[in-house]
Amino acid sequence: MYRIVKKTELTTNIYLMDVEAGRVARKCLPGQFVIVRTDAESERIPLTICDYDREKGTVTIVFQCVGAATQWMARLQEGDGFHDFVGPLGCPSELVKESPETLKKKKILFVAGGVGTAPVYPQVKWLHENGVDADVIVGSKTKDLLILEKEMEAVAGNLYITTDDGSYGRSGMVTQTIKDLVAEGKVYDVCIAIGPMIMMKFVCLLTKELGIPTVVSLNPIMVDGTGMCGACRVTVDGKVKFACVDGPEFDGHGVNFDEAMRRQTLYRTEEGRAALKLEE
Ligand code: NAD
Ligand code: FES
Repeated sequence: MYRIVKKTELTTNIYLMDVEAGRVARKCLPGQFVIVRTDAESERIPLTICDYDREKGTVTIVFQCVGAATQWMARLQEGDGFHDFVGPLGCPSELVKESPETLKKKKILFVAGGVGTAPVYPQVKWLHENGVDADVIVGSKTKDLLILEKEMEAVAGNLYITTDDGSYGRSGMVTQTIKDLVAEGKVYDVCIAIGPMIMMKFVCLLTKELGIPTVVSLNPIMVDGTGMCGACRVTVDGKVKFACVDGPEFDGHGVNFDEAMRRQTLYRTEEGRAALKLEE
């Protein structure tokens, strides 16, 4: 059993958990993910690692209740545990493979949307710990839904918060802030965008126009997480890739987002049935 040592509700329906998983904590790097199951029968849930403490042997995950499986997860309390906590899976972020000296010469922009702020955090933190300052845009629908603001503030070079309804920070979607920063004279060598698929699609359309190479982190439906089942199939530059082993990060300008969004809805009927069962 993988014990939950801390559980916090960051905002409505979004939870943070620190989980005892020593082997994952010792080996994981920013950009990688885990697949968890609450019990032997439950759905497998892929979650990008939000943070880790190698000494304590804990891994931090952040998840939003979007279906029956995540609602079951949200019912777990401190002291309870996960049946499975498999990882670290996937490739680490390309950034952490580069030397800090090379990275210091680059102007790096992160774009985090909603719950996607959680997987952006360990990358920005890793850069900060290696003396690299990155600009970070965090987009949220409203002020109430904003997560990890203080944590991000502590590690970002410059933090730009934007809310769709203008209730906090700048007003509008993340794409508006990218346009504003570029119009103000900011130049970026690379952009890393993580958030809902629709956000990543529109960020990539914009950065392609602006000539900024862009990396996205995809989170399609996953089953085994080891490249065997094909559930996480995505098309990048016209080629089939498996997000669990070839990714989760890809060149955003090559991703077929429309296909990826269609595939995300494949199990909507089954998800509906599971949600009804949960209410019984
Ligand atoms: P959200 O819908 O609140 O959107 C977050 C921000 O994205 C918005 O504030 C806006 O700035 C931007 N955005 C949304 N639509 C946009 C558009 N059309 N053009 C430009 N910008 C746009 O986000 P949420 O509800 O937190 O997102 C939940 C989704 O994120 C889930 O589907 C989840 O699967 C996904 N997610 C992805 C990852 C990942 O690794 N890629 C990680 C966590 C969550
Ligand atoms: Fe099965 Fe990726 S989850 S191949």
